[in-house]
Amino acid sequence: DSAPVLTIDGPGGAGKGTISRLVAARLGWHLLDSGALYRLTALAAVKHEVPLDDEPALARIAASLDVVFLAEGESATVLLEGQDATTAIRTEQVGDAASRVAALPAVRQALLQRQRDFRKAPGLVADGRDMGTVVFTDAPLKIFLTASAEERARRRHLQLREAGVDASLSSLLKEIQARDARDMQRSVAPLKPAIDAITLDTTRLTIPEVVDRLTELLTERG
Ligand code: C5P
Repeated sequence: DSAPVLTIDGPGGAGKGTISRLVAARLGWHLLDSGALYRLTALAAVKHEVPLDDEPALARIAASLDVVFLAEGESATVLLEGQDATTAIRTEQVGDAASRVAALPAVRQALLQRQRDFRKAPGLVADGRDMGTVVFTDAPLKIFLTASAEERARRRHLQLREAGVDASLSSLLKEIQARDARDMQRSVAPLKPAIDAITLDTTRLTIPEVVDRLTELLTERG
């Protein structure tokens, strides 16, 4: 399919999820949360007691992932093997496990076509780490969204507090830095801006400011 794609890559906690949802809703485009696919693979592995370093077994899990995304956008519900996994995939443990399985080439390969299948008219907003560098290399607009690690830890802290979870800011910062290091240093599809990506630092920007900026950029490019 040659529908347009807006890729939004960057480290965890930079606001990619929220921004991608809002931009997709504003444009009426489809949405791919690629991190959810890695999280679901990790969750399915834990469920079926597959060790997180058994690459061939994890690739089979990824290839045969029984996932249904019910409605896109704000209240997107995801079913794994028929069961609601919407909140279960959002824990730090599953995020950590996801970044481990995501470092395995066979797992990434197994999820490649499934991600490309999300590209449909009128367009797609694709959120992840390698959307612009690997999955949709021909995307007309590629964004690399960042924010300082301290700001990302602060945002995650707020988010967790609102959800009634009490986490320490310093341990969140450590987790974020460990995840960044793993995502940037892996040999397959490491986290980095595509050469033709526009980098947007959101440390001092509000969510509506970022959404407006991306919509402007798309209009300029479109
Ligand atoms: O974005 P999210 O935090 O949901 O992603 C979870 C993990 O999945 C990331 O830490 C990263 O290791 C991995 N991931 C990836 N490639 C993507 C999206 C996510 O490797 N396109």
